Amino acid sequence: MEVVILPGPDEVARVAARRIAEAVRRRPDAVVGLATGSSPLGLYAELARQVAAGWLDVSGIRGFGLDEYVGLPPGHPQSYASVLRRTVVQPLGLDPARVHVPDGGAADLDAAAAGFERRIEAAGGIDVQILGIGANGHIGFNEPTSSLSSRTRVKTLAPRTRADNARFFGSPEDVPVHCLTQGLGTILEARELVLVAQGRAKADAVAAAVEGPLSSMCPASVLQLHPRAGVYLDEAAAARLRLADYYRHTWAHRPGGG
Ligand code: F6R
Repeated sequence: MEVVILPGPDEVARVAARRIAEAVRRRPDAVVGLATGSSPLGLYAELARQVAAGWLDVSGIRGFGLDEYVGLPPGHPQSYASVLRRTVVQPLGLDPARVHVPDGGAADLDAAAAGFERRIEAAGGIDVQILGIGANGHIGFNEPTSSLSSRTRVKTLAPRTRADNARFFGSPEDVPVHCLTQGLGTILEARELVLVAQGRAKADAVAAAVEGPLSSMCPASVLQLHPRAGVYLDEAAAARLRLADYYRHTWAHRPGGG
């Protein structure tokens, strides 16, 4: 795992966006896994800046959302389909038909989950998956004790996740109870993982994911199994890492680095 500690959120956005841009330059029709939430917003804004400046062409990429709430009315502004439209599809000028999100409004959610998996497979798999991390260590909406080999499925959100996400809704009770989420096994099949985390509230989860035991109690610890996982942190999110000095040293001395 490559752990990169950067001074603040702006640098996290810039360095993580560089990694995504490199993946797209290598493969202009890259399949990109898209997280929602606050963590990747700076990264998306940075990619949009590069597109607007003419430095990056994303017209050939395809996108897959990580997760979706169950039961929100179609077009609800906090559905992840709407959020991705506002924060990724429109700013990057993507063709909406090339971006897929699990259908949280489906009558048959199990069938929707299976169909989403098939769609990823038909696209050739995800080249690079962007991730945030929950304060309880979740990635996607794989809450603690999720199977490490799980696939896209219905999950019940942890009370802590609903409380954390209440800021996007009128009141905590308005946060849906269920979601569809890519599984940890699905996420592990992406060829590259890029996790971004900022702020002190993520420091315990980040430390458990990077340095704790591989355990479903911290679903993000599954990144330890992935051969190409990068974790981009600001100083606050890195505050509980025991080997922080080593990570700074390896980043400063990275082969080909500045
Ligand atoms: C969102 C997602 C979640 C978030 C996590 C952190 O698609 O999959 O795992 O990445 O809850 O949320 P923020 O970034 O809002 O702190």
